Amino acid sequence: MIGSVMMCASAALLVLGMLGGIAMGIAHDFTLGPAHAHLNLIGGVMLFLFGLYYRVLPAAGGTLLARVQGGLHIAGAVLFPAGIALSITQGPAYMPVPIIGSLIVTAAVVLFGVVVVRTARAEAMPARRDAAHPVDRRHAPQTTGLHRAVHPASHSQTFHGIVSHNDSHGASRPQDLRPDCRIHGQGTEG
Ligand code: HEM
Repeated sequence: MIGSVMMCASAALLVLGMLGGIAMGIAHDFTLGPAHAHLNLIGGVMLFLFGLYYRVLPAAGGTLLARVQGGLHIAGAVLFPAGIALSITQGPAYMPVPIIGSLIVTAAVVLFGVVVVRTARAEAMPARRDAAHPVDRRHAPQTTGLHRAVHPASHSQTFHGIVSHNDSHGASRPQDLRPDCRIHGQGTEG
């Protein structure tokens, strides 16, 4: 959801930035070039790419952190170029506006880094766990909500407790590994 919002906002800001570029070209007045550049790059390019990341990995985009990050980025992508334009046209009294805008964008980019690292770690977790415990996963470490969102299937399998084993004739039989089994790994019967 936040990914779509970011991509729509990005498309709107990019159109605005490009219209500004056309206006500068027509007027042969390039004083607002820095505002145009920051609007296009932070609002157009970065915002779109971050939103695309959330769309490609919905588990990452579904977190509160991603919503906060996206909201901050949109606010900063508007405030920062607007502040640059204000400080160029109105004078240095408006300098606090682009400074605050740039800090908001910086905070959003740091948060995005946190989202990316957390998502990568959640993705890597089951691979490491499978290598350590190929069959019995009952003692797997507690996982985060993000991890469950990234790997919903692994959990229904892990905690349901049913695994498949080959018997002495080679036939595949489901076995119950839940903690309430009387004999570990021997099923519920008996
Ligand atoms: C319709 C599309 C666009 C037009 C007509 C346009 C026009 C311009 C103009 C007239 C300048 C000032 C050149 C100068 O100072 O000599 C400029 C600068 C710049 N534009 Fe664009 N632009 C467009 C799209 C974009 C896009 C899509 C981006 C980035 C994603 C971009 C990034 C920049 C940058 C980085 C500068 C340099 C700003 C500076 O030197 O302060 N522009 N553009």
